[in-house]
Amino acid sequence: MKVDVILGLQWGDEGKGKIVDVLTPSYDLVARFQGGPNAGHTLEFEGNKYILRSIPSGIFQGGKINIIGNGMVLDPDLFKAEIDSLEASGHGLTDRLYISRKAHLILPTHRLLDQAYETQKGNSKIGTTGKGIGPAYTDKISRNGLRIGDIEEHFEEKYKQAIARHEAILHSMNFEYDLKALESDWFKGIESIKRFKLIDSEHFINEALKSGKKVLAEGAQGTILDIDFGSYPFVTSSNTVCAGACTGLGVAPSAIGEVYGIFKAYCTRVGSGPFPTELTDSTGQRMRELGHEYGSVTGRPRRCGWIDLVALKYAIMINGVTQLIMMKSDVMDDFDTINLCVAYQINGVETEDFPFEINDLTRPIYAELPGWKTDMTKMQSENEFPEEFNAYLSFIEEVLGVKVKMVSVGADREQTIVRYTD
Ligand code: GDP
Ligand code: IMO
Ligand code: MG
Repeated sequence: MKVDVILGLQWGDEGKGKIVDVLTPSYDLVARFQGGPNAGHTLEFEGNKYILRSIPSGIFQGGKINIIGNGMVLDPDLFKAEIDSLEASGHGLTDRLYISRKAHLILPTHRLLDQAYETQKGNSKIGTTGKGIGPAYTDKISRNGLRIGDIEEHFEEKYKQAIARHEAILHSMNFEYDLKALESDWFKGIESIKRFKLIDSEHFINEALKSGKKVLAEGAQGTILDIDFGSYPFVTSSNTVCAGACTGLGVAPSAIGEVYGIFKAYCTRVGSGPFPTELTDSTGQRMRELGHEYGSVTGRPRRCGWIDLVALKYAIMINGVTQLIMMKSDVMDDFDTINLCVAYQINGVETEDFPFEINDLTRPIYAELPGWKTDMTKMQSENEFPEEFNAYLSFIEEVLGVKVKMVSVGADREQTIVRYTD
C-alpha cells in the first residue's frame, strides 16, 4: 500500500485539519510528519470545534491509529494541555496515539530562545509563533537535540547539559527569563508523554504498509513556508513539502501515492514576509471578516489577498501534487468580481515562474472573473454549482494543470463536496 499525503500549498492555514478528518475513514493510520505546536488545525463537526496543534487530525474518526512522526518537534507542556482538553471533552487517546522515539523535544529554553532571537531581529523579525520551533530544529540539525526516546533513560543529565548550553546563549543576549516557572509544567508534560506508546515509527509504518494498511500523512504549515522552497527567511524551520513526508516518517519516495494539495480560494499569511497579492484595503479586510481569518493558535489577524496561481503552480511542481482541494470557496460567495494572479511583474519583466525571491517589487498581474454571488454553504453536490463558479474552477484547473477533487464550502465536516472519486 502507499502513503497518501495532504499538505498546504500556500502560507499555511489552508484547512488541512478539516480535510484530514474528512478523509480519515478511508485510512488505517494517520501520521503527522513535521512541525509542532506552531500548527493549529481546526476541525468542526456536530456543533463542536477542536483545534489540534501536535496531535494528528485523524483522532476523531473511528478509532484509527494516529502517529506523531519522527520529523516533528514536540513540546511536552503544550502536548499535555492538548491531551487534557481532549480527554475533558470525552476523547481519550491513550491506546491509539503513538509517538515516534525519534521526534525531537522542544525544551522550555527553546521557547525562550525563539523569543530572544525575534527580539534581537527587531523590525526584521520573522513573526514566529514563539513556540520554540526554530531553536528546536536548529538543535536537531546541529546534532544537539533531545529526542522522545531520550526520556526513557538518563534523561536528567542530557536535559541539564542542553539547558546549560541554552542558558549561556540567553545570558549572552541579556535576555531575561524565568525558567523555573516553565520547567514544572514541562516536566508534568514529560510524564504525560510516558503514558503513550513510544514507537520506532519508521518500522511501524513500513510494516503497516506491507500488511496492506493505508496511511495518510498530514502536513503542517504550507509550501511557501518551507525551509528550502518558501519565502526564505520568512519561513518555518522544517520541510513542509511532500519530500518531508519521506524524511519525517521514514517512508521511501516510491511509497508515496496521492499527493493532495490544499489551497484556499484566496490567500492568507500570518507573520512577516513578502505576500505579492496582499490586500491592505477594505477588500482584504472583508476577506478577513468573512473568512474569520485570525490565527487559530496566536489569534493574530491573518493578512489576506487574492489567490496567487504563480505560487500555487510552483507548489504543485515541488510537491508533485496529483489532486487539488479548494477550501473556503464560500468566503468568495458575495464578491462581484474575483481576481486571480496569473503572473508577476518584476523590474518591468513579466514572469509566470516563481522567482528566487519574492519581495515588495514583485507586482501581481491579475485575470478578473465574475463572482458567482450565490450562497454555496448548503450545497451537497457539484451539480448545484453556479455557472460562474464552474468557470472559476475551470480557469484554475487549466492554469495549474491539476484537477480539483474536492471543494469545501464551510468549516463543518459535512460542508465538503467531492467532485469525483478515483
Ligand atoms: P489548517 O492549519 O490548514 O488546518 O487550517 P486552520 O484550521 O488554521 O484554518 C482554517 C480555518 O478555516 C479554520 O477556522 C476552519 O474551521 C475554517 N475552514 C475550513 N474550511 C472552511 C471552508 O470551506 N469555509 C469556511 N468558511 N471556513 C473553513
Ligand atoms: P498550520 O499547520 C500559518 C508561520 C509563522 C511565521 C513562520 C515561522 O496551522 O497551517 P515558526 O513558529 O514556525 O518558526 O514561525 O511560519 N507559521 C504558520 N502560519 N499556519 C501555520 O501552521 C504556521 N506555522 C508557522 O506565523 O510567519
Ligand atoms: Mg492552522
